[in-house]
Amino acid sequence: MQHIEIATLLKSEPSLHEVSVKGWVRSFRSNRFIALNDGSTIKNIQCVVDFEKFEEEILKKITVGAAIHVRGLLVESQGQGQAVEIQVSKVEILGEANPEEVKLTILSPKRHSIETLREQAHLRVRTNTFSAVMRTRSKLAFAVHDYFQKNGFNYMNTPVITGSDAEGAGEMFRLSSLDPKNPPLNEDGSINYKEDFFGKETNLTVSGQLEAETYAMGLGKVYTFGPTFRAENSNTSRHLAEFWMIEPEVAFNDLDANMDLAEDFIKYIITYALENCADDLEFLEERLFQDEKNKPQAERSEMKLREKLQFILDNNFKRVTYTEAIEILKRSKPNQKKKFKYIIEEWGADLQSEHERFLVEKHFKCPVILFDYPANIKAFYMRLNEDGKTVRAMDVLFPGIGEIVGGSQREERYDVLKSKMESMGIDEKELWWYLELRKFGTAVHSGFGLGFERMVQFVTGMGNIRDVIPYPRTPGNAEF
Ligand code: 4AD
Ligand code: MG
Repeated sequence: MQHIEIATLLKSEPSLHEVSVKGWVRSFRSNRFIALNDGSTIKNIQCVVDFEKFEEEILKKITVGAAIHVRGLLVESQGQGQAVEIQVSKVEILGEANPEEVKLTILSPKRHSIETLREQAHLRVRTNTFSAVMRTRSKLAFAVHDYFQKNGFNYMNTPVITGSDAEGAGEMFRLSSLDPKNPPLNEDGSINYKEDFFGKETNLTVSGQLEAETYAMGLGKVYTFGPTFRAENSNTSRHLAEFWMIEPEVAFNDLDANMDLAEDFIKYIITYALENCADDLEFLEERLFQDEKNKPQAERSEMKLREKLQFILDNNFKRVTYTEAIEILKRSKPNQKKKFKYIIEEWGADLQSEHERFLVEKHFKCPVILFDYPANIKAFYMRLNEDGKTVRAMDVLFPGIGEIVGGSQREERYDVLKSKMESMGIDEKELWWYLELRKFGTAVHSGFGLGFERMVQFVTGMGNIRDVIPYPRTPGNAEF
């Protein structure tokens, strides 16, 4: 007999047919009630055992964490909060879990701190919180593809190994096949990368944008969705060294169209999550609500998780220039200014996440799209405005997160791009192909990057980005 997923069973009508389920024991009360979970839903199915009918040997092995196979009739439940339960006729122990050892892990049924769970990343998906987050992550990934496929975009895969630095920020993980103890050397003592696997220095990609641009200039609309790597030493709750980025790129779109796309796309995937992850979001909302109760009143969030998500859908993203934002920050009240670690004094300074969050959470009280940033704090590829000092950059800022999207209209003019690269010290030899794109049928085009984990963080309400990816990579941490 085929075993059935618990998610499906819980939606079934009671019947007099025998069903078969496999899962992990979450609890076993009074030698009678097994709470079984198989990962298909946040909910457990109750399996009722008539212990007099079972051998002591078997009952002893029904312990928290064990994998079991249960057969029995699906009957109407007497218990609260569930429509059906299984009246067990047969139990098979698939994999035992020694209670003494389980006690030492996060599988033991008590409340563990999120930090403790992180230390056992291989087991944490067996907890309610992490299974809810990871199911939601999976649904969101599907929603990303769903949105772009429905809107005529082509999914493209950009290389993970590249010879260029797409962001020009020098935050790359270098790759080499050379023996680090004995590398081939040039006459001047420097390492001879011509003998390296690719005949040159390479690194893990920081963004697929440049390659996506080349494809947008042939396929029209493309998007990437893949891993990206940054060797930035930021030990924050918003940064990973390995994260997944979604990067749409569209030929003939200007910055306004790019903003429209970002807003429409974000609203689509949040709507999708609300409609398709209801049980998990309800659980996460309740969990967060309990955590909030321990915080001082002033720090408590005014909205519950799903209200926050709905709020994004109900509001237009406020579009504000960098220059206006600086004015607002300069004018902010003295007691607010005191709270900033870094005070913005003049035009040209880069905004820190505390300023971004102030604009979103305190000033505008809605998502914000900041655009037209100073050229010298943004990447070389962004289109220069007529004023000669700002570029067509845009960042989408979210409550609780700060920057969730970074994008721009790209510099499509050959001469302007060439001189920009020169002045910013970008090696033309590395990016000759990117420049050449501007020679053959160049056109206005735009795109952006959404940090997938930051979006998962926002939707699930998790406070730390390390808790929305199965195996987080952060400075000094690649244990698993
Ligand atoms: O603003 P960023 O650096 O932009 C780019 O990489 C562009 N090439 C994108 C494009 O226009 N196609 O990164 C884009 C987004 C950020 O807004 C943030 O959400 C996320 O990627 N991100 C990170 N997420 C987690 N950990 C990190 N270290 C991140 N760095 C950026
Ligand atoms: Mg950015």
